[in-house]
Amino acid sequence: MSLGIGYEIVKSLAFLRSDYQVLLGCRDTSKGERAVSSMGAPSNVNPIQLDITDDQSVDNCVKAIEQHFGRVDVLINNAGTAGKDLVGTELEPTRRQVWQHVYNVNVISTEVFTQRLIPLLEQSKDPRIIFVSAEIASIGKILQSKQPNEPQLVPFCSSKAAINMMTVDYAMRYPHFKATELPPPTTRR
Ligand SMILES: NC(=O)c1ccc[n+]([C@@H]2O[C@H](COP(=O)([O-])OP(=O)(O)OC[C@H]3O[C@@H](n4cnc5c(N)ncnc54)[C@H](OP(=O)(O)O)[C@@H]3O)[C@@H](O)[C@H]2O)c1
Repeated sequence: MSLGIGYEIVKSLAFLRSDYQVLLGCRDTSKGERAVSSMGAPSNVNPIQLDITDDQSVDNCVKAIEQHFGRVDVLINNAGTAGKDLVGTELEPTRRQVWQHVYNVNVISTEVFTQRLIPLLEQSKDPRIIFVSAEIASIGKILQSKQPNEPQLVPFCSSKAAINMMTVDYAMRYPHFKATELPPPTTRR
């Protein structure tokens, strides 16, 4: 969350809810530390190393939270990609690689991480999970518009539609949790 929407969420939470200890998950902690200082180094925000596609990183992160805090009140599943981060990393990625990458981050790893945090969320009096979705992943809206999404956005939209289903599933499976989806503006993706 060291950039983009995640950064803004952390910054808002830090200032609006000084009673919260906010953990900013980031793959590169030096980037995370820079992000926290650029917010004015609020004392209730700490970066924590987290790559949701890496089981060891997930394990370390969950254990550190357990050890320091013993519970999670709010999980914001913001990590996401439309696949553009693959471009330029090696040879031009194939369509299969883009699909696998987008699904791995947006769906599989988001769910795996969420499951790992359930025991810590269970320790909260008012647990909440927020899944960051996308308006262009709405099946209803696309049917109404009668316009398909741009071809390069199909993996992304499809993965966020899966997130919408996951949100409904979690809301039913954990009725004592608040599980909601947060569709950000549609402008860039
Ligand atoms: N921007 C839009 O218009 C738009 C529209 C619809 C939906 N969304 C969704 O909103 C969310 C944020 O979007 P954004 O535009 O702010 O994206 P962004 O600027 O591309 O940032 C991507 C975020 O995901 C994190 N991330 C990516 N892969 C990760 C991984 N393997 N493990 C942990 N974190 C990972 C990055 O964390 P680090 O780099 O700090 O590690 C970063 O915070 C995403 O879920 C996106 O799909 C955005």
